[in-house]
Amino acid sequence: MEKAEIQALIRKAFEGQQFAYTPYSHFRVGAALRAKDGRVYTGCNIENAGYTPTNCAERTALFKAVSEGVREFDAIAIVGSRQGEINTLVTGPCGVCRQALYEFGGDALTVIMAKTEDDYIVTTLGALLPYGFGPANLEK
Ligand code: THU
Repeated sequence: MEKAEIQALIRKAFEGQQFAYTPYSHFRVGAALRAKDGRVYTGCNIENAGYTPTNCAERTALFKAVSEGVREFDAIAIVGSRQGEINTLVTGPCGVCRQALYEFGGDALTVIMAKTEDDYIVTTLGALLPYGFGPANLEK
């Protein structure tokens, strides 16, 4: 991906982060998932007083897209930080989100983990989830 494309997707992830609902952790995450046709779906984390029902930003973006019939993706950008801070660490997708994304993105999905528009890591889901278990495993 070209730098301008990466930065545009990071900007979208920051847009998603604005809506993070995080009264418990105060850790705000935003994601922007790009479909192969170019459409971008943003997401934020949505916490819950029961804790367990909390949904990560990445899965919010994924479920928005899939629930509208979109199933093919080529990239996701993720940003996260405590309220009002710039993180010293990038926010990598949690294990559950890696698995959820694997279903629709596979090894090739580009994963951008960003602190700012100019400070980011680009990798792939295959690198973050080696030997991922996916639809191919259940084929006859
Ligand atoms: N979180 C995400 O939204 N995505 C990640 O990849 C890591 C964790 C959220 C879940 C919870 O609301 C908060 O960050 C702290 O764990």
